[in-house]
Amino acid sequence: MKTFNLNNNENIPVIGFGVFMIPNNGPTYEATLAALKAGYRHIDTAAGYMNESDVGKAIKDSGVPREEIFITSKLWLQDYGYENAKKGIDNSLKALDTDYIDLYLLHQPYGDYLGSWRALEEAVEEGRIKSIGISNVTINLWNKFKDGMHMMPVVNQVEFNPFTQQKKLMAEMSKYNIRLEAWYPLGHGNKDLLENETIVSLANKYNKNAGQIILRWIYQEGVISLPKSTNIERMEGNIDIFDFELNNQEMQSIRDLDTGKPTHNPEDSANETRLMGLKIHD
Ligand code: A2P
Repeated sequence: MKTFNLNNNENIPVIGFGVFMIPNNGPTYEATLAALKAGYRHIDTAAGYMNESDVGKAIKDSGVPREEIFITSKLWLQDYGYENAKKGIDNSLKALDTDYIDLYLLHQPYGDYLGSWRALEEAVEEGRIKSIGISNVTINLWNKFKDGMHMMPVVNQVEFNPFTQQKKLMAEMSKYNIRLEAWYPLGHGNKDLLENETIVSLANKYNKNAGQIILRWIYQEGVISLPKSTNIERMEGNIDIFDFELNNQEMQSIRDLDTGKPTHNPEDSANETRLMGLKIHD
């Protein structure tokens, strides 16, 4: 699997297998095991997905050495604040059954953000986490947080696909060498996207499917993508994107599909209230 370099000189596999909304106690275990068998070396989970333990078990049982796998997890809001975050990190390490996590993100931009960030920074110094990052952070939120951070985030994981290209955010993040990571890279299976004329005609040209064209475009934009699939064929197909290249004109034709409107607005106070209320443990 190809990698991108991060601003702390660590390397990250350019495509990760996303396990959002795959249930624990079986389905995430099976999906992660299948993904590792298919060749994925980057798994993206979160405390908030409540399936870290299945990811950990699958990694153990896969036979793939731990150091060849890049694990991302995320701290949930309920565990924000300096002291709580330290316990949250412990819980993720335990659930994943690992000595270190490759990348750990603050999942949502609310609550005691900088207290939590300080706990993440300390975990990096202690070697329990290799890289730290942010997620769902808009330019306004970034301007609110950035001066309180000692360590630079390596990534900002946001909604990103051809309909939601986050162009201004990408330009702002690039000033700090912070890479974007794409959640919902396939628009969460959005038919309008997967059946879009521009994308389908490129799929026909390169003998690929629409998902592969989108993931190749995201890769050529320098963005890490986290596609999710529980279907083995699509799972395998989604990393089979390194045997063709979109030319400049084709890249631009997909850039022209941007609506400029993410479906999720992290600055909406209703989202903040809803997410702050989601409990993942007692
Ligand atoms: P399935 O699990 O049946 O493959 P996203 O990663 O943007 O959230 O999108 C995930 C959704 O897209 C899932 O519903 C998944 O369904 C579907 N999907 C995954 N890969 C592809 C693909 N290559 N082409 C079409 N749909 C896909």
